Amino acid sequence: MFDIPDSEILPLALEHSFWTWSAQAKVSPIPVTRAKGVYFWDANGKRYLDFNSMTMCVNIGHGNERVINAMIEQAKTLPYAAPSMATKPRAVLGKLLTEITPGNLDHFMFTLGGADANENAVKLARGYTGKHKILTRYRSYHGATAGAMALTGDPRRLAWEPSLMPGVVHFLDPYRYRSTFHRTNPNISEADFTEDYLNHLEEIIQYEGPNTIAAILLESVTGTNGIIIPPAGYMQGVRALCDKYHILLIADEVMSGFGRTGEWFAVDHWDVVPDLMTMAKGLTSAYAPLGAVGMKAEIAAAYNNVTYQGGLTYTSHPISLAAAIANIQVMQEDHIVEHAHEMGPVLHRMLADLGEQHPSIGEVRSIGLFGIIELVRNRKTKEPLAPWNSTSPEMVAVRKMLLQKGLFLDIHWHTLLIIPPLIITEEQLAEGFAILDEALSITDQSVQG
Ligand SMILES: Cc1ncc(COP(=O)(O)O)c(C=O)c1O
Repeated sequence: MFDIPDSEILPLALEHSFWTWSAQAKVSPIPVTRAKGVYFWDANGKRYLDFNSMTMCVNIGHGNERVINAMIEQAKTLPYAAPSMATKPRAVLGKLLTEITPGNLDHFMFTLGGADANENAVKLARGYTGKHKILTRYRSYHGATAGAMALTGDPRRLAWEPSLMPGVVHFLDPYRYRSTFHRTNPNISEADFTEDYLNHLEEIIQYEGPNTIAAILLESVTGTNGIIIPPAGYMQGVRALCDKYHILLIADEVMSGFGRTGEWFAVDHWDVVPDLMTMAKGLTSAYAPLGAVGMKAEIAAAYNNVTYQGGLTYTSHPISLAAAIANIQVMQEDHIVEHAHEMGPVLHRMLADLGEQHPSIGEVRSIGLFGIIELVRNRKTKEPLAPWNSTSPEMVAVRKMLLQKGLFLDIHWHTLLIIPPLIITEEQLAEGFAILDEALSITDQSVQG
């Protein structure tokens, strides 16, 4: 189809591409040629085990023929329609999402990905409430467009400040391993821990003024910023604060949705129904770009006689919608969410075992197939193995060895993220953990104390 040999992919791509999130002179891309199941291959025929679902998004695994064929069929029938038009995949996907999303979310706006889903959720919340401020957490990533960058709490936003969307206020995450409030009483009960963080949030709501706050936006389970799993009662508590102060709750399920945590959506673990919910990634398992904003009927109804100002040329793209329908059907037919649920304790055990073997592991956390390893120099002081927002020679060496041995995963500062396709088997997980076990001998050598 494209008339170049595989050996030309890398040099030609390096010559003409501009790479996102990269210093251009320092990139070293894998020239990937094909992918199937939990593996992908490069131009030299080397196989990699994909422990990051590419970009935490290929939830059903690579190369699923049912999704590919649905996209081909849609491309043959109607590859594109104006966003103002009704199409068959649009009709079907809205109904499907109403069935699988929590509570009474029953209207869906389709977007191009996660960032613009969050931007639209914010617009809807501001329009519906007539209020302006949005509260999000410091340990969050909500996307890279200007509004979504402003929503993002982590340092990725800093390079573009102050030219970002105004009106965002950040608060702290209930991150037990490094909790500022509990340095001297780390054994506090979970109930008290939850209450402290809810009190912190309520204090901020009061300082900012409840009448100025349109919404609280949070990742139901924090992704790249640490797989921070809300303690018991936290999500229900945030919901209650939202209700008390007439603030909308927006759940960002871009990474945590579509089976990742062992439920369809992470909020399902706590029976919390957000007013707005954003999705992307696992919505199509990345077979085509798509995001969505799910909303309650009353929010959609607020725009019955008022024009919603927003939309893009590729909004509700039929091929992406067809991919999403087929993806959800695959998840249902193959019981993929149930499988992720069953594999949750398996991953958890493997992480815990690894933690026992390696003194450089400070903590492991996981929920479903969403896991993390925190590497430290010293278990007592919890000094991270790479400084804040940076890397270290040890982390660079680990990354190199993992890739050499054919394990692909995301390394964020001093953490290793374990986010494999949800179809992964126990044997395939063990294959990756054997490589991790070897690579962590590098970081163990840097342990002090
Ligand atoms: C939680 C969360 N929200 C939003 C986004 C942005 O999604 P996209 O890259 O599709 O714009 C991401 C992407 O990683 C994410 O993890």
